[in-house]
Amino acid sequence: MSIDKLIDSLASQGWYVWDDFLDLSDVQAIKQCIPETLQDARIGYQSTLQDNKGIRGDQTVWLESNMGAPIVRYLDKMESLRQELNYQLFLGLRDFETHFCRYPNGGFYKKHVDNFKGQGRRKITTVLYMNESWQLGDGGELVMYDLQDKALFKLEPLAGRMVFFLSEDFPHEVLPTQQKRESIAGWFLTEKIL
Ligand code: OGA
Ligand code: MN
Repeated sequence: MSIDKLIDSLASQGWYVWDDFLDLSDVQAIKQCIPETLQDARIGYQSTLQDNKGIRGDQTVWLESNMGAPIVRYLDKMESLRQELNYQLFLGLRDFETHFCRYPNGGFYKKHVDNFKGQGRRKITTVLYMNESWQLGDGGELVMYDLQDKALFKLEPLAGRMVFFLSEDFPHEVLPTQQKRESIAGWFLTEKIL
């Protein structure tokens, strides 16, 4: 089962690609719940929007259960995963935060880490892709690196696919996309750090 592969891969290599994590119909149903108007993505404390645009070009909205049943189903699924990951890997994951992201044609996200070691609460990153008719040459691939900056793999943002990785250990980037590119990024959070 893929859940066992997820657990094994996270433990051994720190990342996993789960194809068909969601059916196309679930992906489509989630999209229906997303409002038309989104916010320009921010990159953390004290950055100006101007700075951000050179780093990432997507727009986002945080997902809440009041956005509809398909969102609730997704959040429930991630909650079961949280419990399973804690049970099997003792990760102490307490919460899950997640937002929808839309990159316009030409959008990208320069190489970054989602969490600097010992700083924030983000422990495991998840990205669910939602692009149903992705073609070779459309760009927008996720490129993953190790902490020595060696490129590990390149991933097309195909609908239904979810990638998981340890948030502190894998710098990554989104290459410029030639199409509108939609995804849902999420983070399993550890308890508050003081
Ligand atoms: C992010 C991110 C990767 C992707 O939102 O932090 O790196 O493939 N997303 O969308
Ligand atoms: Mn990221």
